[in-house]
Amino acid sequence: MQLKTDDPVTSSETPAETFKRSSSRKAGKRRLKILLVTPEISESVFLATNGKQAPCVKAGGLADVSALLLDSLTDAGADVHVALPHFRSLFEPGPNGHSRRLHLCKDREFYYRKSVYDGCSNSNLRAAFAFQRDVIHYVMPRIRPDLVHCHDWMTGLVPAAARSMGIPSIFTMHNLHDEQTTLSHIEDRGIDSARFWNHLYYGRYPHSYEETRSHNPVSMLGSGILAADRMNTVSPSFLNELNISGHGVSWQVADAVRGKISAGHASGILNSLPESRSPRQDRYIYRQYDAATHIEGKRENKIELQRILGFDENPNAPMFFWPSRLDPVQKGCQLLAEILQQVISDYWESGIQVVFIADGPSARHFDDIAESQGLHRRIAVRKFHEPFSRLGYAASDFIFMPSSFEPCGLAQMIGLRYGSLPIAHLTGGLRDTVKHLDSHAGTGNGFLFEVHNSEGLRWAIDRAMEFHLGPEEEKQRNRQRIMSDAVNAFSPEKMISEYLGMYRSLIPINA
Ligand code: GLC
Repeated sequence: MQLKTDDPVTSSETPAETFKRSSSRKAGKRRLKILLVTPEISESVFLATNGKQAPCVKAGGLADVSALLLDSLTDAGADVHVALPHFRSLFEPGPNGHSRRLHLCKDREFYYRKSVYDGCSNSNLRAAFAFQRDVIHYVMPRIRPDLVHCHDWMTGLVPAAARSMGIPSIFTMHNLHDEQTTLSHIEDRGIDSARFWNHLYYGRYPHSYEETRSHNPVSMLGSGILAADRMNTVSPSFLNELNISGHGVSWQVADAVRGKISAGHASGILNSLPESRSPRQDRYIYRQYDAATHIEGKRENKIELQRILGFDENPNAPMFFWPSRLDPVQKGCQLLAEILQQVISDYWESGIQVVFIADGPSARHFDDIAESQGLHRRIAVRKFHEPFSRLGYAASDFIFMPSSFEPCGLAQMIGLRYGSLPIAHLTGGLRDTVKHLDSHAGTGNGFLFEVHNSEGLRWAIDRAMEFHLGPEEEKQRNRQRIMSDAVNAFSPEKMISEYLGMYRSLIPINA
């Protein structure tokens, strides 16, 4: 259904302002109803302030962006609902009652899971089917949203089902991961895909339902993109790279994205951070600080982290921090593994320290390096824990982001706000948020390398060390400038304006 108002648009008005104005005009009447369908969400201010505890279930940045979207769209005046799997054992805090806008999809599959994605295709598909069965058969028909906004492959069937129900949809691609299945598997798990099978993306041309049902593979990610009315990536450069190089995605996904681009139905919307994600307000760090007080603030946080980790307490030691999943497929940690020992040895006199606060398959590898070389006062590997990770940003001078691809990345934006400068590969969202530093000219905010190998990373580490060992005044001036710029950069207003612009193109809230 379409909501129409006859509000005139003033040329200086942003989509967020128009949206808020038209929503408030309708006070007492119905507001625009949006259903966010996501497998992960961080603690949302909006769900928490409803008098209920907001559950948090997080595997990566998708959770943070989902919570930010929910809160910012609600602030802009929309009636936002969220569908989420009922990951009973993963919720922190457990859902002791919850807002009526949170739709927890129930299935025994979710009850005993140890993580949102567990490394086994079959079990991830089972979870995705159970989730989507509830969304398609119960949540969408019950709440009849004006628009459905889906996130990543686990929601890939929903746009096709929404299309069959006449509900417009948007698909946001946060990552490249895809799973292939068949209609018969989908139906065995209780989803009536015969109703929308003709909107899905198959491995071969689907001549008929009968011929397609058992043997023609369905791409979950390709289907989500194909069937949605609009798709977006989480940075402009990542969309461009998908169009040009494809980043090794299946041809179904590449073709679906290119089809949307040529129809003018694809965009790259850069992720953002809530204003509260700042060292001035962070209650988890040892000493709060901002751009003007960063010297003292970062110094005290560094000494605190060094004390906790059993490192030498040395405020001048250059500290490097690894903030994200230790995943060699995307995050490039193998590049660091190849050169870590040499880097430590070459810069030994400076007191160099490297801290990993991250989970993932390569964590053991870094622990082994520290163990076998007796480097426990220089290298520390600890499990991911949000409060501890915040201290990592506040204490460190540099963060590592040598990703082979990066749809957006949030860690580099957080690093910039906390004055920890990114050492990053020139790709995806890193390209849109990090510029190579020229400390004499006072431009740029990090250290970028172009060729994705360990020599490239080593080159960028050497540039970071040059900066660290350079004139003190130049270092402080640049860090202060970078932190001040980052306060207003990456703000949710721009991101929300762009999403609202996309919603408006599907639901004319003004004619
Ligand atoms: C995924 C991507 C990351 C992005 C995040 C949120 O984790 O890998 O680049 O920032 O989703 O969109």
